[in-house]
Amino acid sequence: MLIHNNERFIVNNEFAKEVESGLNDKQKHISPKFFYDKKGSKLFEEICKQPEYYLNRTESQILKNSVDKILKIIGDEEISLVELGNGNSLKTRILLEPMLAGIKNVFYFPIDVSLKMLKKSISNLFSEYSNLKIYGVCSDYVTGLVKINHFIKSKKNIPKRKFIIFLGSSIGNFDPKEAQIFLSSISRYVKKNDLLLIGIDLEKDKSILDRAYNDKNGITAKFNLNVLSRINKELDGEFKLSNFEHESFYNTSKHRIEMHLISKIDQQVRIRSIGKTFQFKKGETIHTENSYKYSLNRLEKLVDRSGLQVVKNFVDPNKQYTLILLKKILNTAKS
Ligand code: AVJ
Repeated sequence: MLIHNNERFIVNNEFAKEVESGLNDKQKHISPKFFYDKKGSKLFEEICKQPEYYLNRTESQILKNSVDKILKIIGDEEISLVELGNGNSLKTRILLEPMLAGIKNVFYFPIDVSLKMLKKSISNLFSEYSNLKIYGVCSDYVTGLVKINHFIKSKKNIPKRKFIIFLGSSIGNFDPKEAQIFLSSISRYVKKNDLLLIGIDLEKDKSILDRAYNDKNGITAKFNLNVLSRINKELDGEFKLSNFEHESFYNTSKHRIEMHLISKIDQQVRIRSIGKTFQFKKGETIHTENSYKYSLNRLEKLVDRSGLQVVKNFVDPNKQYTLILLKKILNTAKS
């Protein structure tokens, strides 16, 4: 069953609008959310297999190693597992299997803006776990949470307690202020007994970070350049990909990986469906992504300001990545 909300799709129209305004800004930019068309999603999966890109691998390892401890902390007979942006649910399985084995009543609520992704992963999970109760929620995360709260309240057999997971260091695409706003709005719909698990890449040696976003096989470069192919395809653009170059580096003072596409020459590029031609100077860049990295300290502050508190950090032995388990800070005046 799908709780379906059609309003929130990114349609080409929005893509066109954002590309137009982004390329008109002084520092040209395109949002990283546009990386993930079919080709881009494939390339991202490919990135995750590159030896330099430790993020996904490390997160899965931490999940595997800490799932028993997490289940102990949950320590309940029933739980509603809510996943923000479930992607392909590969990592979810690491949690789901022991949960289904050890907890009597498990409901799974993946929330995703992409109906296609949602349908695909739901049907995959169904074929593997016939007894799993899944309710896909097609909407943005906060709206999805509100809907799930209503749903849980209105139905008898659905576990009241939520375990909300947000994996893959996706939160790194927000700048710290946006991350705080996001977490604050999530925490508004988290109840006193709920738990929240978030995967976040930790700050580390610049050289390791630089390598992770400049893999030797050039997959990250392809991933970055693919956004121009997407403009060519979907907006009738005339980008020549060979006139642009992938760049990414760790900006230490801003605690973030920056990805750019550098124009190799002075050039003009027409985008027909926007009806405009854009000028690029040699060396000028389009800023395509920020990926913020946190120290445990800065993470704790962020969480604290969002009305949440740390239950436990599950960090890998090399301190590269953390799965941070959170709960709501209880206001003593009211609970
Ligand atoms: C999916 C946002 C977590 O920031 O590492 C990978 C995306 N960009 N390589 C990240 C990405 C370049 C990724 N996130």
